[in-house]
Amino acid sequence: MPFPRAAGRARPPVLVTRRLPEEALDRLAARCEMTVYDSEGAIPRDRLLAEAAGKAGAITVLTDRVDEEFLDAAGPQFAVVANYAVGFDNIDVDACTRHGVLACNTPEVLTDSTADIAFALMMAAARRVAEGDRFLRSRTPWSWGPLMMLGQEVHHATVGIVGFGRIGQALARRARGFSMRVLYHDTYRPPAAEELAAEYRDLEDLLRESDFVSLHTILAPQTRHLINAERLAMMKPTAVLVNTSRGPVVDEQALAQALKENRIFAAGLDVFEREPEVHPALLECGNAVLIPHLGSATVQTRLAMANLAVDNLLAVLTGESPPTPVNPQAAGRRTSP
Ligand code: GLV
Ligand code: GLV
Repeated sequence: MPFPRAAGRARPPVLVTRRLPEEALDRLAARCEMTVYDSEGAIPRDRLLAEAAGKAGAITVLTDRVDEEFLDAAGPQFAVVANYAVGFDNIDVDACTRHGVLACNTPEVLTDSTADIAFALMMAAARRVAEGDRFLRSRTPWSWGPLMMLGQEVHHATVGIVGFGRIGQALARRARGFSMRVLYHDTYRPPAAEELAAEYRDLEDLLRESDFVSLHTILAPQTRHLINAERLAMMKPTAVLVNTSRGPVVDEQALAQALKENRIFAAGLDVFEREPEVHPALLECGNAVLIPHLGSATVQTRLAMANLAVDNLLAVLTGESPPTPVNPQAAGRRTSP
């Protein structure tokens, strides 16, 4: 049994750092001594560390930093952190592995909903949907005009997908339905590229050729500010940038400048460099569509994520392999207390 420390306990104590869909919490409560941080905002750091102490595992969200300090505060009995997200840049995975803690994420269940929102942002930014809505609400007098609020076409345009994992590929499938040409850039060439008729480009060529650039990379040192002033300058003046990955992949200051000077046509952003703060210069850009990290935010997907996080947590606590670990090698590093 890989987790003797946790598996021995009848109702292991667990922490859930944010209120999740009820149905999944009920499943957890039936098997564990569950503490939920039940408040509107993210759990404050000191409270997170205090609540983690003595727990067997935790469900965390992307605003919780899981690092050495957290793992030390939790204690040696702590066996599993089930992140309620596909991205896990909030987790120091190496530290988890050193502590023999399994880290898990929620891949697959949110792939389609996140690709949907990327496509929604492409459409909204290119066709000025949010701007049009704001315009009507401003009660400015208007009448239909041949040159009013013209956007860029989506169908038959070229989309460049940066990061061709599950979500990037799901976006490619949607783009094919709109008769778009699909380019991609990644550090590997997935077999699915051929089936999706997606053509590989190096990043610079992709930026030069694409009418839409959609970001689907992980956040890592090599992707921080991947889209900077220099790379924005390679994009077409008619191009739209969409980011549903992580905010710091884009240099927001440089993006706001490019939008303000109309050096690209528009942007659609679901994520921000200093979330929950939105760069004030972006708020001034009428050609930026800004939404509050809603990629996976549907009733169905959020329930599926909660159930997967609970499955991950319960599996580890009962000595089984979790469905979606990010560091399965941690299991072998676990020692008895
Ligand atoms: C959300 O951003 C996630 O990584 O699931
Ligand atoms: C990666 O996180 C993906 O699912 O695309």
